[in-house]
Amino acid sequence: MANIEIRLATSSDLDFVQQDGFIPTEVVKRKIAWQEIFVACRKNVPVGYLRLEYLWSLVPYIALIRVLPEHHRQGAGKALLHFIEEFLRSRGHSVLYSSSQANEQEPQAWHRHMGFEECGIISGINAGGVGEVFFRKQLKGGANNVRPEN
Ligand SMILES: CC(C)(COP(=O)(O)OP(=O)(O)OC[C@H]1O[C@@H](n2cnc3c(N)ncnc32)[C@H](O)[C@@H]1OP(=O)(O)O)[C@@H](O)C(=O)NCCC(=O)NCCS
Repeated sequence: MANIEIRLATSSDLDFVQQDGFIPTEVVKRKIAWQEIFVACRKNVPVGYLRLEYLWSLVPYIALIRVLPEHHRQGAGKALLHFIEEFLRSRGHSVLYSSSQANEQEPQAWHRHMGFEECGIISGINAGGVGEVFFRKQLKGGANNVRPEN
């Protein structure tokens, strides 16, 4: 990806990767320590970030991906996604989940364009009763496909 570098977030990225204000600073700090936040930079300047979660502490899920508006459609989102796909594959994962608000068509279109398939919806989980559409993407080469049977 031209001119975009992706790296794990460090404590010096704290302000940048919590600018959305969705989760408490203590949680963001813990996620940095747990290698769950990634930063996209252009010429060493941060332009986007991605926060991972693990469903049941096992199955990777993109909790948030955000590229600064002035840097949209210049490859930062794709570079973040490809980086974490390889990061997860190298740890044995073969599937990645993500989601988007049901009333936001643009991020849904981006997910589909990037190879995600819609796999379900949770109704009314967002403010104002808005639903959340979930997406899934297969990662070739991993092993941990699904939650193990009880
Ligand atoms: C969604 C988002 C992360 C995409 O990041 P981006 O850096 O603008 O996208 P990229 O430049 O990497 O786009 C990669 C590809 O997707 C395409 N694309 C970008 N935005 C698209 C859209 N809204 N619909 C369809 N395709 C899109 C690009 O044309 C590009 O295609 P190509 O690889 O065939 O050339 C960014 O728009 C964003 O931060 N949006 C606000 C936050 C958000 O909604 N996040 C998602 C829910 S958490």
